[in-house]
Amino acid sequence: MDQSDLIKVTINGREFQVAKGARLIDVCRKEGFDIPSFCYYADLALQASCRMCLVRIEKMPKLQTSCTVICTDGMVVTTQSEEIEKAQRSMLEFLLANHPLDCPVCDRGGECELQELTFDWGNLEERFIERKNAQPEKYLSPMVANDPQRCILCKRCTRVCDEWMGEQAIEAGDRGANTVIGTYGGWLNCTECGNCIEVCPTGTLLDGTYRHQARPWELNQTVSTCTYCSDGCELSIGSRGTEVYRIVARDRYVNGHNGEFLCVKGRFGHPFINHEKRIRTPLIRYKKGGKLIPATWDEAIRFTAEKLRSVAETRDADSIAVIGSPRLTNEALYSLRRFAIEVVGTENYAIADAFSLQTFFANLGGPLATHRDIRFAKTIVLIGGEPEELQPLTAKQIRQAVRNSGARFILINDTRIRLREQASQFIHINAGTEDAVVLALADSGHEEVCARKLGIDNQELASVRRAINETQGDVVMIFGGELSPAARAVVAQLPYAFGGDQRRVLLHPLPLYNNSVGAHDMLSGGKQINELLSAASDAIRAMYIAGSLLPKHLQKHADALSNLDFLVVQELFDTETTAFADVVLPAASFAEVDGTFTNSGGLVQRVRKAIEPLSQSKADWMITAQLAREIGLEFGFEMSASAVFRQISEQIPAYADLRYPLLKDESKPVQVRHAIVAQRALSAEVQTIHRAVEEMSDTGTKTFDPPPVGHELFKLGTLTEKVPQFHLLAAGNPKPETFRISPLYQITVDESLREPVVA
Ligand code: SF4
Ligand code: SF4
Ligand code: SF4
Ligand code: FES
Repeated sequence: MDQSDLIKVTINGREFQVAKGARLIDVCRKEGFDIPSFCYYADLALQASCRMCLVRIEKMPKLQTSCTVICTDGMVVTTQSEEIEKAQRSMLEFLLANHPLDCPVCDRGGECELQELTFDWGNLEERFIERKNAQPEKYLSPMVANDPQRCILCKRCTRVCDEWMGEQAIEAGDRGANTVIGTYGGWLNCTECGNCIEVCPTGTLLDGTYRHQARPWELNQTVSTCTYCSDGCELSIGSRGTEVYRIVARDRYVNGHNGEFLCVKGRFGHPFINHEKRIRTPLIRYKKGGKLIPATWDEAIRFTAEKLRSVAETRDADSIAVIGSPRLTNEALYSLRRFAIEVVGTENYAIADAFSLQTFFANLGGPLATHRDIRFAKTIVLIGGEPEELQPLTAKQIRQAVRNSGARFILINDTRIRLREQASQFIHINAGTEDAVVLALADSGHEEVCARKLGIDNQELASVRRAINETQGDVVMIFGGELSPAARAVVAQLPYAFGGDQRRVLLHPLPLYNNSVGAHDMLSGGKQINELLSAASDAIRAMYIAGSLLPKHLQKHADALSNLDFLVVQELFDTETTAFADVVLPAASFAEVDGTFTNSGGLVQRVRKAIEPLSQSKADWMITAQLAREIGLEFGFEMSASAVFRQISEQIPAYADLRYPLLKDESKPVQVRHAIVAQRALSAEVQTIHRAVEEMSDTGTKTFDPPPVGHELFKLGTLTEKVPQFHLLAAGNPKPETFRISPLYQITVDESLREPVVA
């Protein structure tokens, strides 16, 4: 930072150089001076109502709230004195005037900011003898429980709902001493992220799924990474014994790139971990059409090794395919790669992902944008996708970039998705024409035909180009899965077309799974999944699948698995894939293993073991290594995930020199070093897109109605289907007759609320 951008501030007698425009509360905290606060929350709009953050500033007549003061040169500040403590104690006494002192039965007891401050100071007077306002405990939704009398009206909840989620689902009602936090009609019909619960400093908003199950101090907190989408939120797994009780992102435990943000899946989607339907032992189907019979690990591994050996001998090594799910850790996927190449000797390995990132990374012309880069970008262009449903942290970063930093947000979509509310420009294109946007951006010569197929005015494309070229600072280009492989290659090179002296162009793909990027890195050089499935029962006679195929793969290749000579699957649950397996091996969930995921911003993040693997299940990489040993190759993993990761860092150039200790501190994220490729003409890809654009209809369709909240988020999948509350959400989150008891009672009285699994 330039010296002219710094000013001097004296805090408690010590002088500091701080950035011009810095907020006093942030500066004090950064320099190690504790300032209590309830309503202040970094990166949210100011509330300035609790008056806990008082400080004395020289030459100012009264105590000042440090959250509202911007530092000025020469400012002299005192953060601790008898006068300040007296004022703060009085404020606390006011806050407690209506607050029930029921910490012993409050779920937040032990991690409540109000309780902590009260205990820290000790000897707090309580002179109010009036009757306290009391209201019954209730539920606001299947996920959010509410004890209104504990509210201190800091309004963190209403601000995160509005600013992070763009929802305004929870609001302050009534006035003065009667003000209560609640929702219209008493029932929340929102995305159920639970962020209002997370940021609530008291026990007013609580996790409705974990209510009264454990006290926070009984739980081990294990910092790990979410297993759902590619945003890769850091979280803390709260476990006791062999059971996971809750998941939070509370920054006192985690401090990851998502702060205290999680979405409904990351926060509430964990009950699959200890679910009764988990596969607990290895299973063998000795005869096609027969039943899966429980077996020992030794039997199952020996049986599998013999079968694979026999297929390789009667046909050849290439008749065996190895497929990995993008939900697995890097360590598991790397082991699969070694298994395919070194043990089987086949190049037929693939990732079971919704779309491939191969052409994108092969042509990468600029850095990947992390979620922090999105938050501080000056211009954001989103082509396709629906991050508010599929990558909720990305959506939150876009909202905050627009709202808190005035970023320009250009949304290009065939549907009026909810993020349209934040867009400074919404380009409503015809369905299925996303490639035409890429073509027009790559070469303005195609603008006219592209605009016609997109169903928009020429000028709209020109204005996108202008907006990017006018930007000083970061431009982030985000794209969804709608783009073709050729268009993904062209997008990857756009930083060369739009980068400039004062401008960086960063890229951010929107893959669907927690480790889609890591899966690409570990299994690059393999085949496309559809290629292998098309060859199944013909050139491919046996498959080793870790995880499951996606329903869309099976729909497209209905007989692919049933016609194989041999299929071995590693899984947590019975799925459409295990239904065809000759051997099923019980895999451990993300909460039971050590490893890493790589998120859509390229951050390599630790996955940590919170509980022991359930029953006889094992980490995927261990199973693969055991199978390799049986066939005759020792991987040398020394039974430790860190040894596997060490091999990754030695073999995969983008991960060179990375080690677990370097990934230990979540507040210092580490980005994988994907190679930046030199500028290329890509004329073949441009021609391919051009041909496809020419074939597009001139009279396409656009979707005008915004899709319903939760249409993707609440969809029941193999994992979320194990969470009873998700069944209520998937059934439209019906408002119950009473809010006083758990909304789950609705499932017991109305069987129709149990939706079938749809994806
Ligand atoms: S759960 Fe999320 S969307 Fe719903 S009220 Fe709370 S913050 Fe808002
Ligand atoms: S419910 Fe919690 S976060 Fe919301 S105003 Fe009350 S105390 Fe603050
Ligand atoms: S946004 Fe994605 S990574 Fe974050 S909690 Fe939700 S599903 Fe998990
Ligand atoms: S933190 Fe400053 S007034 Fe609440």
